[in-house]
Amino acid sequence: MDSKTLPEAHSDLPFLKSVLERVDRELKQREQVGFLYFDVIEFGRLIETHGPEVGQRLLQALGETLNKQRGKLFRDEDLIAVGGPEVDFFVIYLFSPPRRKEAFAKSDLKLISNRVLQKLSFMINETAARLGVKEKIDLRGGYTVLKYDPQVPVDRLVHEARKEAALKTELEEIMLTFVSNVSHELRTPLTCIKGYAETLLEGALSEPELAQRWMKVIYDEAGRLERLIRDLLDLSMIEAHQVEMHFNEVDLVGLCRHTAAVLAPHGKATGVTIEVESDDNFPLWRADEDRLSQVVTNLVDNAIKYSPAQGVVTIKLSHTRERAEIEVIDRGTGIPEEELPRIFERFYRVEKGSAARFGGRGLGLSIAMHIVEAHGGELRVESKLHEGTRFRVSLPAGDVTWLEEE
Ligand SMILES: Nc1ncnc2c1ncn2[C@@H]1O[C@H](COP(=O)(O)OP(=O)(O)OP(=O)(O)O)[C@@H](O)[C@H]1O
Ligand SMILES: [Mg+2]
Repeated sequence: MDSKTLPEAHSDLPFLKSVLERVDRELKQREQVGFLYFDVIEFGRLIETHGPEVGQRLLQALGETLNKQRGKLFRDEDLIAVGGPEVDFFVIYLFSPPRRKEAFAKSDLKLISNRVLQKLSFMINETAARLGVKEKIDLRGGYTVLKYDPQVPVDRLVHEARKEAALKTELEEIMLTFVSNVSHELRTPLTCIKGYAETLLEGALSEPELAQRWMKVIYDEAGRLERLIRDLLDLSMIEAHQVEMHFNEVDLVGLCRHTAAVLAPHGKATGVTIEVESDDNFPLWRADEDRLSQVVTNLVDNAIKYSPAQGVVTIKLSHTRERAEIEVIDRGTGIPEEELPRIFERFYRVEKGSAARFGGRGLGLSIAMHIVEAHGGELRVESKLHEGTRFRVSLPAGDVTWLEEE
């Protein structure tokens, strides 16, 4: 999931007074209640495009769907409150008091939340289609537990709960995609390791030369697994904004020269060389040195992979007062124009499956993009098929972002 497609939680939008009153009453009675909310993403825009009547009909459909679920997905006495166009979003607070239970099991809430969300999504899209709305309507849901606190006013409590629920949903979605992609990526090396280990166990161990070779394969594949896991974790941490950046004054030219030296052996087999060009008096630049070097390493590694034999990869540094630029240029295969927007996606590779000449996982560029963005910078690409590719990392000047950070 791309977190950018989600609007900010509507933190300053008013809550319906009747909802708050009900929450207050329930909380005082029960100490804690389950809190579920559902939001029609961009409800305001929907009404703008299709008129208030369509909005009203959609809300009605949602309300009816919910009413039908009373006694099924949740018990009759549970509270449902529906926000309307006047608050620009649709929201339900559902309080499912534990029956014979001390506390809420989060998994119960999650289950109810998912099922209600599914039902609502289906219904609202059905209704919308009947009303002539062509675009797909996205719903978002969240759940958490609200606890009574006499010190905190109820609107504050609800506000916080809503924020927490939204964040949790976002993290869960990241985890979900992550897990499914990971399983897929882990399978290949694991199958290989298992296969070779099996053959060894079945008797190949008695042939030392073969055994030696196959152990090497197992060892290499295990290494691949290790790198894969490290990168995946890295990526999911960066995406969830769980990674601390360590900014320093960095010698960018030195960093690029060092990367070139480290990667030079990679080009040896095909005679690809790396050159570093820079304008004079390059100042130290605010950056997280390790992270940035990860970016340049991946760009140069890609450039080498897609260069023709004897090709040259150029790392070109330039700066103005406002921005420093690191360009990584190759004269290689290039990337088809229609693929360009996708190459920064996780697991995306232009050459798929067995067509891929290199065992890449399609993670490098998405990690790079996140890191550059964490610098407040931009990562861009230009490419011409059969002529070559140019990636451009652009980093804002230090003092500007320092100010923003504080
Ligand atoms: N310089 C380049 N020239 C041509 N294609 C490129 C270049 N850089 C990236 N690509 C394309 O973009 C895809 C994604 O690149 P990315 O670095 O994310 O993954 P990868 O190199 O395949 O694997 P990883 O970096 O995770 O080991 C590559 O698989 C390749 O198809
Ligand atoms: Mg790569």
